[in-house]
Amino acid sequence: MSHVERPNRSQQGTGSAGTQDNLLPVFSPSHQMEIQRCHRNYKPSSVSISLAELLKCVEDAQSDHSNGSTPIRHQPLELGYACSSLSTSNPFVLSFHNLSYSVKVGQKMTFPFCGRDSCDSSEATGFKVLLNDISGEAREGEIMAVLGASGSGKSTLIDALADRISKESLRGSVRLNGEILESRLLKVISAYVMQDDLLFPMLTIEETLMFSAEFRLPRSLSRSKKKARVEALIDQLGLRSAANTVIGDEGHRGISGGERRRVSIGIDIVHDPILLFLDEPTSGLDSTSAYMVVKVLQRIAQSGSIVIMSIHQPSYRILSVLDRLIFLSHGQPVYAGPPGNLPEFFAEFGHPIPENENRTEFALDLIRELEEIPDGTRTLVEFNRSWQAQGMKNSRNHTCNSSRLSLKDAISASISKGKLVSGSTNHSNLSSSVQTFANPFWIEMLVIAKRSLINSRRMPELFGIRFGAVFITGLILATIFWHLDNSPRGAQERLGFFAFAISTTYYTCAESIPAFLQERYIFMRETAYNAYRRSSYVLAHSLISIPSLIVLSIAFAATTYWTVGLAGGASGFFFFFFTVLSAFWAGSSFVTFLSGIVSHVMLGFTIVVAILAYFLLFSGFFISRDRIPPYWIWFHYISLVKYPYEGALQNEFQDPTKCFVRGVQMFDNTPLSAVPEALKLKLLQSLSNTLGRNITSSTCIVTGPDILRGQGITDLSKWSCLWITVAWGFFFRVLFYFTLLFGSKNKRR
Ligand SMILES: Nc1ncnc2c1ncn2[C@@H]1O[C@H](COP(=O)(O)OP(=O)(O)OP(=O)(O)O)[C@@H](O)[C@H]1O
Ligand SMILES: [Mg+2]
Repeated sequence: MSHVERPNRSQQGTGSAGTQDNLLPVFSPSHQMEIQRCHRNYKPSSVSISLAELLKCVEDAQSDHSNGSTPIRHQPLELGYACSSLSTSNPFVLSFHNLSYSVKVGQKMTFPFCGRDSCDSSEATGFKVLLNDISGEAREGEIMAVLGASGSGKSTLIDALADRISKESLRGSVRLNGEILESRLLKVISAYVMQDDLLFPMLTIEETLMFSAEFRLPRSLSRSKKKARVEALIDQLGLRSAANTVIGDEGHRGISGGERRRVSIGIDIVHDPILLFLDEPTSGLDSTSAYMVVKVLQRIAQSGSIVIMSIHQPSYRILSVLDRLIFLSHGQPVYAGPPGNLPEFFAEFGHPIPENENRTEFALDLIRELEEIPDGTRTLVEFNRSWQAQGMKNSRNHTCNSSRLSLKDAISASISKGKLVSGSTNHSNLSSSVQTFANPFWIEMLVIAKRSLINSRRMPELFGIRFGAVFITGLILATIFWHLDNSPRGAQERLGFFAFAISTTYYTCAESIPAFLQERYIFMRETAYNAYRRSSYVLAHSLISIPSLIVLSIAFAATTYWTVGLAGGASGFFFFFFTVLSAFWAGSSFVTFLSGIVSHVMLGFTIVVAILAYFLLFSGFFISRDRIPPYWIWFHYISLVKYPYEGALQNEFQDPTKCFVRGVQMFDNTPLSAVPEALKLKLLQSLSNTLGRNITSSTCIVTGPDILRGQGITDLSKWSCLWITVAWGFFFRVLFYFTLLFGSKNKRR
């Protein structure tokens, strides 16, 4: 049995909680002394020395010995398994007991007269069991691999361990060093590497890892130390030769698949988590790349972490790196133990593994064969249960006389080993001793904004297309509405121009739907493990959009204002510009909010286009407010087009001295427009006589304010319209925040 063949852990310099000396194999002896001195200087009662203080010691120690440029490196620890209980050189143990998880599936029709057998089936009761009574443990320094056929529940088990299944649905317990893990603490000390590589395609490997370091490592760590950590990570992941290559995507050729995988792992381990969960980190890789990835994971484990991953059919070489295996079949454990015990297990089960056969392949094939027979795996599940019970009994007989470190002490010891957990303070309460986020709000915002700017700079076509769309629309409007006059027809055309111009600004905002949808899953991955706050993302996202909105507004206002011949001079231009800007702001906020609730680009476009059409319909252009049916009037007030449209019209028609209909012009746009001029004058004369008021061909009949009244624009001033539009923008940003807060909980129910 392999655990007997391995060297005894207790021979490797282990001791009690106080023997930190042996817990520092990650630094050179002189560094260790420095850190130990530093650790001893703290009061013995304050076990949870602050991370910042420890890192400071580490920095001091390093700068004393290596002019400050040597990265913090973890060196492999030699680990063995002599005892099944813990010794203090192996402070972390993640144990899970009786994990069961089932989901509701489409309720089948059950009839009162159905037979006992059919009614008893899990399908009939509407539940599908995905995990069934799984127990086991994983230890620091080891890689635990979950194996099984596709659909056997590997990802589900990893999700259960990584707290990605809601507490109400998951039965059983997951404990770290015997203590139930709070979600908040788990988020800080763990990382989960998804099966998909969700990366920004236009960033290089080094930039990607550096941004991750800036999010995950505390502010107290200097930038040069963060850089050093990233450089060390690049070496550790074997990515040196591609460090300055962009990640790439379908459109741009970038790094290879294996390299992407390692970058994905890198961004989640930059803060050196104590628990690392990975869902199939080797899938889709050739055997050499897969082996490299697993070797990287081994190094991470040996630097003081617990690594738990799922894997499909590991090669012989990979198997030699794995420390513990759990085989699943339909959510039930069929083997749990070190790979070395497989031959003995299957021999005792009556299916000895032939020599020269890959053990895991044999095991998986056998499990698959048994799965094909009704109740076939039950014998194996039961055999495994009795084998485990026997193993427990044996291990109790050989229990080592070592004490288990409490979680608090273990985390403290781990930090003193140089683990870069993202934050810790001197609180006595463990949950409050670990900071939820590594950095303050404003640092997160700066880093998010910087990353966004780099991304937009590398993809100038995105803004270029939007600018082109706005500019060309402006030019088309300029030629169509060229130098409008102050005639009745001109006044009508001005109304049309504003309605079209304002709705166009909203429509051109729709292009930001794919932008966020593309980023959404990266955002979810990053916020799921507290890389930054959702609020910093929303604020950074809003602020960096403003400069581009200003450029677009200038382009649109400048191409249309003078060419169309709008009123108001310089102040009129500025008001028009701010109205366009406020419309862009409200539009982009609205579209951002929608992209937070829809999950598909096409769905997003359809909804945006439909809602904007309704906004235009109810804006007051097609039908004035007093003609809108009372049961639809609420839509008029929530129409985003209404406010900038009314503001711009007021800016245009506010001058009471400006006349739009004079004398005989009142017959324009009526059936009388075709009658000769002389007859129109006669009609005007008789009208004057009837009304008792002299109306000549130069008398002003309709002024600007009359047009506004005719349009029903009487309830708000132009500045109120502007501020309300701006406020809508803020409102939708707040809603966007809530959609992210409640919509991005990536826990299974
Ligand atoms: N919400 C759900 N409703 C019904 N069945 C589900 C649900 N989620 C998962 N399953 C089922 O649970 C089983 C286990 O899924 P899981 O993703 O854990 O498998 P896996 O072992 O990771 O497979 P693979 O190797 O293909 O990734 C599968 O049969 C899957 O269809
Ligand atoms: Mg899976």
